[in-house]
This record gives sequence, C-alpha cells and structure tokens, in this order.
Amino acid sequence: MAERIILTGASSGIGAALAQEYSVPGASMLLIARNAERLSDVADAVRAKGATVEIEAIDVTDEPAMKAAIEAFDDDAPVTIVIANAGIALGRRKGEPEAPGVARQQVEINLMGMLHTIEPMLPRLIARKSGRIAMIGSIAGLRPQADIPTYSATKAAVHGYGEAIRSWLRGHGVSVTVISPGFIKTPMADKHHGPKPFEIPAEKAARIMARAIENRRGRLVLPWPWSFLLWWEQLFPARISDWFERMSAADVGGGSDKP
Ligand SMILES: NC(=O)c1ccc[n+]([C@@H]2O[C@H](COP(=O)([O-])OP(=O)(O)OC[C@H]3O[C@@H](n4cnc5c(N)ncnc54)[C@H](OP(=O)(O)O)[C@@H]3O)[C@@H](O)[C@H]2O)c1
Repeated sequence: MAERIILTGASSGIGAALAQEYSVPGASMLLIARNAERLSDVADAVRAKGATVEIEAIDVTDEPAMKAAIEAFDDDAPVTIVIANAGIALGRRKGEPEAPGVARQQVEINLMGMLHTIEPMLPRLIARKSGRIAMIGSIAGLRPQADIPTYSATKAAVHGYGEAIRSWLRGHGVSVTVISPGFIKTPMADKHHGPKPFEIPAEKAARIMARAIENRRGRLVLPWPWSFLLWWEQLFPARISDWFERMSAADVGGGSDKP
C-alpha cells in the first residue's frame, strides 16, 4: 500500500533518514522542520527516488500553523503514518546546572511539539479506523540521565503520552509505536562529548524504526543491547544506578537551540 506520511524534524539526522527510508514510488509525505534550505535538500533526495513530497518550514511549537498544515495535507488525501520526531537535546555543562530557558525550550519543542503533530490527526484516524502513529522518545526517558535532566523529563513525558494513547487507540484500528533510541549518529549525537555506547548510523536506525511501525509494534528500544541493559539496571538500588549515571555523565552543553 502506498503510504502517506507526516514527519517532523525531517531536515536532519533521524528524520532525514526516515524520509529516505519511506521514499518509494507511490509514497507521499509532508516534511516539517524550521530550516527551509535543509528541508528542501531532503525533499530533492526524496523526489529523486520517486516519492511525492511537500515541505513546510514550521516550528513545531506553533500550534495553529501545525494544525493548518497537517489538516490541509490530510484533506488532499488520507494520511496513513504520523511520526513525531522533531526534538532538541540541551543539557548541563559538567559541574553546572542547566542554563536558564533550557527546560522551557525542551518542554515546548520535545513535548508540546509532539502533541501539536499528533493531536490534529487523532479524530481523523479514529474516524477512519486506520493509521499508524509513532513518536521518538529516548533511552533517556526510560533511564533519566544526569547530564540532560530536563531532556530526560521531556522524553519520559513523550513515552507516557504514547503509552497512554496506545492502549486507548488499540480498539480503534490505530497503532502507536513508542520509539526509544540510544545513540544514533546524527548532528544531535555529535554534540554529546562523552562515551556513546552501541552508536549506530541514522540510516540503520531509520530502517529498524520503519519496520517496527509497519509491524505495529507497541515499543521499540534500539539498538537492542539497550533494552537488556535498561531492564538490568532497574534491578539495582537507586544508589548504584546514580553512581553509574554520575560516572558516565558527559558535557552536553547548554544554551539555546537555533535552527
Ligand atoms: N541522535 C540520537 O542519539 C538520539 C537519541 C535518542 C533520541 N533522539 C531523538 O530523535 C529525534 C531526532 O533527533 P536527531 O538525532 O535526528 O537530531 P538532529 O539531527 O538535531 O535533528 C533534529 C530535527 O528536529 C528538528 N527540530 C528541532 N526543533 C524543531 C522545532 N522547534 N520545530 C520544528 N523542527 C524542529 C530539526 O530541524 P530544524 O532545526 O530545521 O528545525 C531537525 O530536523 C529527536 O526527538 C531526538 O530527541 C536522538
């Protein structure tokens, strides 16, 4: 079946790789991010593989603009897959608390941006009794990390929302895949100055994610060693896992994120 996809954060990293992954003749997609030039480069590559693409340079925090673009795209032809991927990762410099504004910016982009992507499509997918939704969380949402406290909190919230709507939508023919990546080689991960165990390329991550969405999997942690480690860590008392987190904390940098 030809998929019709809405994908945020498509101008870079995982989003750009997902756009490529879904680029087959007959597929159509709406790619959203702030940087129009980078979006346009991704769109050219998608078109070269035979898919149809529209781009919208929108900030996912702009709720009315997101709603208008998403509804217009769905009015033209029914959307089959919605992927809320846009996100930023800001954290602490070693030994310092997070900079002012870091928390609010991440709540607005990582959490509210995800809601602005999914909410406009919910009544439509439910009415049609079909469709797939995916949101990109993080292993930091499953095991919050000392170097990125508010990022971890926003990703835990993304997981919480995904888990909640999945059980609700199960009876309505709509699947929800909550995706928790570990380190994926992208511009975001390149800003993380510390160990990045099991890091995999964005193209490989996109392939695994698309397969999980296709199979309507409820949860995906990737690459797979993280699911084992996170399960194992839960068995430790907080004192031991806190020590481990302190030892592995990196300098992630603070400040603001600019497109
Ligand atoms: N890479 C990893 O290791 C890793 C691990 C766990 C989770 N993740 C999650 O995976 C997702 C993608 O990350 P990535 O690694 O691919 O990072 P990336 O290369 O920095 O890409 C982030 C994407 O999000 C878009 N974006 C950011 N803020 C936005 C806003 N306000 N409005 C619209 N678009 C916005 C960016 O586009 P513009 O700048 O053009 O707006 C870009 O396309 C994020 O949710 C991230 O938290 C990544």
